[in-house]
Amino acid sequence: MNNIYRLLDLSMQSIMNPKKFFSVLKKKYFSIPELHSLDKIQNTYLKRKFFYLWINLSKKNKRFNKLFFNNENDESVAKIDINYKKDFKEFFFENLAKNGVIIFENVLPNDEKKKIQNDFFNLKNFKIKEKNLSHSDWLIKPIETVGSCKQRIYSQKKISDYPNLEKLSDKLTKEISGKVLKTVAEFYFDRSIKIPEEKIPGDNDLHIDRWAPNFKIFYSPFEVKTNGAPFTYLVGSHKINEKYIRMIFDKSYKDIEKHQIYNLKKKTQLLLKENSLVVALTNGFHGRSSFTELNERMLLFLQYNKSFNKFSFFNYKSFNK
Ligand SMILES: [Fe+2]
Repeated sequence: MNNIYRLLDLSMQSIMNPKKFFSVLKKKYFSIPELHSLDKIQNTYLKRKFFYLWINLSKKNKRFNKLFFNNENDESVAKIDINYKKDFKEFFFENLAKNGVIIFENVLPNDEKKKIQNDFFNLKNFKIKEKNLSHSDWLIKPIETVGSCKQRIYSQKKISDYPNLEKLSDKLTKEISGKVLKTVAEFYFDRSIKIPEEKIPGDNDLHIDRWAPNFKIFYSPFEVKTNGAPFTYLVGSHKINEKYIRMIFDKSYKDIEKHQIYNLKKKTQLLLKENSLVVALTNGFHGRSSFTELNERMLLFLQYNKSFNKFSFFNYKSFNK
């Protein structure tokens, strides 16, 4: 009976607001498998079938094969100064394949960096500047969430507002996946309001976003020091090898500090100069460090879960051209 009500409800929603309905449907069914998708399958045989369907398809993307499956020794996180290394493609790809994370420095021209810094300033003061904000081109009204230890303000802008960042995103997504992937610029402003901070799963603990190949890019217009809750990455933990697969099936990924699956000495805090960009393979372990003092953190995220979905895995041939 419940299913009938749900079906009726879904049909009503699709009639009332078809655009929203299809966007929810797309997110729910077409985005690459979520971390807990295996927990929803009771039958062990079907669970393995589901897992290996996506893993085997993702291996057919030749770039993913090298990044996520080809085992090479990991080393320390590489840095690329975009001004001085004209042809960084090979260096970038090799180092990302080894470590799962890479830093680019000196990324945007000064005026574009300043524009992003100013956008963050407007976002963090959005309550005072509400009048101004309504005239600016934020894609959504800023969303404020206040937890017991942290305040967050979030909004989005068109990536075309930042032409050099868009160019870089195009270049890097093509290098990683084989095709240019489009996205929006997501602004995250975090402010700590209580120290010590409690652990928030999927935020300031070491976690993986998904077990299938996926990645994120983020840009820091400001310097990030140890007191600014820097991004942390467990170098080399992105390889989907036997150890990784075992950890997914026995669920020990939920607490790797307890299960000691990886050498936690490879946990590296990414301290950044202003105007830096980070590419991270987020099936590897990562997370924000906890705030150690009352401070702020401003990062612009580029995520590709809408432009790279389950169809993209099936469509690997067009990515391998
Ligand atoms: Fe994450």
